[in-house]
Amino acid sequence: MSHIYEALQRAEAERKSGAQAVATPEEPEHKSLAFAAAMPPVVADVVQAPEVTASALTEEPVTVDSSFLSDVRRRPWNPSFERLPALERGGVGVEQFRSLRSRIQEFRDLRNLKTVLISSGLPQEGKSFIAVNLAINLARHKSSKVLLIDGDMRCSSLHHYLGSEFHPGLPDYLSGKASLQEVMQFPEEAKDRDPSMTAVLNNIAFIPGGDGGDLAADLSASKRFDELLTAVKPHFDWIIVDSPPVLLVSDAVNLARSCDAVLLVARSGVTTFPVAQRAQQELKASNVIGFVLNAVEKPPMSGSYYYRYETKKE
Ligand SMILES: Nc1ncnc2c1ncn2[C@@H]1O[C@H](COP(=O)(O)OP(=O)(O)OP(=O)(O)O)[C@@H](O)[C@H]1O
Ligand SMILES: [Mg+2]
Repeated sequence: MSHIYEALQRAEAERKSGAQAVATPEEPEHKSLAFAAAMPPVVADVVQAPEVTASALTEEPVTVDSSFLSDVRRRPWNPSFERLPALERGGVGVEQFRSLRSRIQEFRDLRNLKTVLISSGLPQEGKSFIAVNLAINLARHKSSKVLLIDGDMRCSSLHHYLGSEFHPGLPDYLSGKASLQEVMQFPEEAKDRDPSMTAVLNNIAFIPGGDGGDLAADLSASKRFDELLTAVKPHFDWIIVDSPPVLLVSDAVNLARSCDAVLLVARSGVTTFPVAQRAQQELKASNVIGFVLNAVEKPPMSGSYYYRYETKKE
């Protein structure tokens, strides 16, 4: 059994016995939230799902010219620093995401791995938080080029983290209403921004989630998503895809078919063991490489793997 399952089971037992739970998503954001994004043994110990079977290329893959990135527009970004610990110069948050990045890198060494879908069973477990902070940390490393896609077309939120426009977005591309260049964006230059932060953000391209509404399920199953990834893959080192809760809607399962790997998020004190199990089960046809135990307040195991991150008080 993986350490993450043990941690979840222990958390559930504590909750049942009336022990103090960690902060829940309903609590105001300025309250302290624990953070433990990447525990090396957690990601490493998860049982491997079967080989990816559904990331086959379309019959006639769309290709984009190598100059297409120069046509992508720059838009204003005003990052929400309180929710982006990976943007800080150093500290616990940066370390945790660096640790997560290392674990994913190890999987890449074993097999072809570039597109990673982030998912979880239920809402508010931290999928978007992990997706955007992981993308930033990947972009910090050797100036890697990262594409961040908000695949939650029903309730997109990554634009809140980046402080960017959310429209046009992925649903506009998938429905054929907009081109790739129209839905993709780079950050506009901001004079007052720290140069090192500017360098990191300049390595990130973003496709927001737009507003897919009721069409989101159909759009997520569209072959255009697979074509999109195939076309942009040569231009990026990493592609991170956020998604909606896998136990509520089918979108994440659909999107995962086109991705090389899936990383599941469990929120300490909130995600129950059965929910984590069911989330993994739903995605069994994809390559689930592991769980991230998010928002850990009290280290349940070896202190060296669990750290505490507190959001800045306003
Ligand atoms: N480790 C953490 N530390 C601090 N804040 C966090 C942490 N994880 C998540 N949050 C905050 O908790 C809230 C919910 O997180 P997030 O939006 O990432 O969840 P989600 O799983 O994407 O939810 P949904 O399924 O509704 O899209 C957000 O306000 C986010 O900033
Ligand atoms: Mg989300």
